[in-house]
Amino acid sequence: MSIIINTKRTINKIKSMKNQEKITMITAYDTLFAKLFDNHVDMILVGDSLSMSFGGDEDTLQIGLNEMIYHTKAVCKGAKNSLVVFDMPYGTYVNEKIALKNAIKVYKNTPAHAVKIEGGEDKAHIIKTLTQNGIAVMAHIGLLPQSVRGDGGYKVKGKSEDEAKKLLKDALAVQKAGAFCVVVEGVKSEVATLITKKLDIPTIGIGAGAGTDGQVLVWSDAFGFFEDFKPKFVKRYLDGGKLIKEALQTYVKEVKDGSFPNEKHSYN
Ligand code: KIV
Repeated sequence: MSIIINTKRTINKIKSMKNQEKITMITAYDTLFAKLFDNHVDMILVGDSLSMSFGGDEDTLQIGLNEMIYHTKAVCKGAKNSLVVFDMPYGTYVNEKIALKNAIKVYKNTPAHAVKIEGGEDKAHIIKTLTQNGIAVMAHIGLLPQSVRGDGGYKVKGKSEDEAKKLLKDALAVQKAGAFCVVVEGVKSEVATLITKKLDIPTIGIGAGAGTDGQVLVWSDAFGFFEDFKPKFVKRYLDGGKLIKEALQTYVKEVKDGSFPNEKHSYN
């Protein structure tokens, strides 16, 4: 059975899905794939994961605001019903003033519906400033990819009681600050489930188990196009890299042996 979404997803719709229906989100970085994903997922995230999966960087820290704006404009052209979220890149929300200036630039230059910010209690004042200025914010707690250099690697959170308590405090703080939704990344399942139960806003998990209100995956991971490594939490729904290479081999072979182009593909 195919699940087709043919009504526009709004912030209020996403909020109302908590405890009613699981929320789906996937990343996209261009019109081509946004068009393929639209009508199938509730939200499309223009993630700064773009810099790793497509830019070849080792982490997400180098991508800038203008590059993200370019890709988000492209995604918005392909996403008619999915709610589009702009991932604020590293260094663009270091204080309220800078965050507001940059988030306004995003709203002025793209039709994205919301911005995403990494951080918990420490970023609550920034989320509050943005939401008070009419900007919809998706928060992001747990494993924070933009902190990977400072943290010395990607580390699952919520393993100790203190960490679990801190995560719950983070979740409650971003909710109080006005976030409409929160991504919970790389968190022990039982902690992510507890956070989900305690919050009124939806939680979107990635590497956080099945107890969250929704799930997000990076599309090139989920469909097997990014082959360098596969984190434990990723499920590959397609062997995309293998399929592309097989198709490419057929094309190369047919050009070499002269069977492409034939009559069907020629103007005679
Ligand atoms: O950049 C991204 O794709 C993300 C997701 C992993 C949540 O932040």
